Amino acid sequence: MDMKVLVVGGGGREHAITMALSRNTDVEIYSVMAKENPGIAKIVRKFLLEKETNVKEIVRFAIKCEIEYAVIGPEAPLEAGLVDELEAAGVACVGPFRAAARLETDKAFCRNMMEKHGIAGCPKYRVFHSAEDACEFVRNFDGDLAIKPIGLTGGKGVRIMGEQVDKEGAFEYIREIDGDVVLEERLIGEEFTLQAFVDGTHVVPMPLVQDHKRAYEGDVGPNTGGMGSYSMPDHTFPFVSEGDYEKAFLIMKDVVASMAREGIPYRGLLYGQFMNTTDGPKVIEFNARFGDPEAMNVLSLLVSDFSEIIRHITEGTLSESDVKFADKATVCKYLVPEDYPESPKSGEIIEVGDIGDAIIYYSSVLEKEGLLFTQSSRTLAFVGIGDTLNEAEKIAESAAASVRGPVRYRKDIGTSEVLNRRIAHMKEIL
Ligand code: AMP
Ligand code: GLY
Repeated sequence: MDMKVLVVGGGGREHAITMALSRNTDVEIYSVMAKENPGIAKIVRKFLLEKETNVKEIVRFAIKCEIEYAVIGPEAPLEAGLVDELEAAGVACVGPFRAAARLETDKAFCRNMMEKHGIAGCPKYRVFHSAEDACEFVRNFDGDLAIKPIGLTGGKGVRIMGEQVDKEGAFEYIREIDGDVVLEERLIGEEFTLQAFVDGTHVVPMPLVQDHKRAYEGDVGPNTGGMGSYSMPDHTFPFVSEGDYEKAFLIMKDVVASMAREGIPYRGLLYGQFMNTTDGPKVIEFNARFGDPEAMNVLSLLVSDFSEIIRHITEGTLSESDVKFADKATVCKYLVPEDYPESPKSGEIIEVGDIGDAIIYYSSVLEKEGLLFTQSSRTLAFVGIGDTLNEAEKIAESAAASVRGPVRYRKDIGTSEVLNRRIAHMKEIL
């Protein structure tokens, strides 16, 4: 029986969601995206070009197309209440209601919830409602802090003292935010992402992934949405012990249980970003969706039928046996406009060469008369899959190198040099 699924969002993550769904030919896929993603447009039966936060128009489109299920890619529509309205119109959603999405959209809500329920892994933090109070705290605090605006910032809103800014720079940034701000202890360690499918009660984990936020090789430069990511054949990392993994997974399960206890059950994708520290994994943040690029790593490995997982999530019947991933390594490399993220030029022509065995995921790129044009955000991504990290890296690297035009990518992502540096760093701090 055909199943009609609407995918909301038009980036690389949503292309990966659409591709994963399309492996079951009984699924009729629909899309809402702000701009026409050429990868998604080719797969779906029908698409609506519309702002992903325009709840009214999206609901109207869903009703018209007799959509049964929706998967929400980005966070902005969650915050706009899209799930609340789609559910009211009879569409079963993979994505939390607005109240539960606060886990991502309101950093103070997230930290308060963790504290209230005694959930492990919460860094020390303070919420401030005035810039002067926050500056006063920084002035008197002996040590480094992470400075974060309270709301959504597309992954680019954090400044780390001792790394990106000094005390003066911290004052300046807090005044620039000029609103609610969270100050957090600066965590030292290695980051990893744990994503899970959640049906309100059951939490089923996906392979661990490590993203690379910084714009340039060697992890320098400004933060970006994520320049690329990798995962290992055993679905974990050599710098994450079994005990650390169990702790991180328990934190995710505790969060889901606490949300249910609060009367705001959590359903959809849960993304935990962790820093593995000398005290074990600490939560940098939760996201109420797949990561971008992390979705491309895990969904490229998904062996199970994604539409069945969607059914189970929305019916509350999810179990670990529904979710299988191939035991392979993945490396994802994002191509971005040359001056991304500071002053990316858009409208430039790029040409993709021979990509070998790599999977191509389109992101912020337009196709006109067979030509691809950059936009101001991440352009397209290549995922290599292999029995080893090296093999996967070579596939992604050679595909990325085949592209001609004013775009760049991080050559170091997925290399053994970087992995070894991560392992050495973890050993050094333990
Ligand atoms: P976010 O926007 O919360 O994803 O944070 C962006 C990046 O800032 C993360 O990937 C971390 O590298 C860094 N970061 C965020 N919070 C902290 C913290 N408390 N300590 C150290 N680094 C952090
Ligand atoms: N890769 C980080 C994010 O999706 O927020």
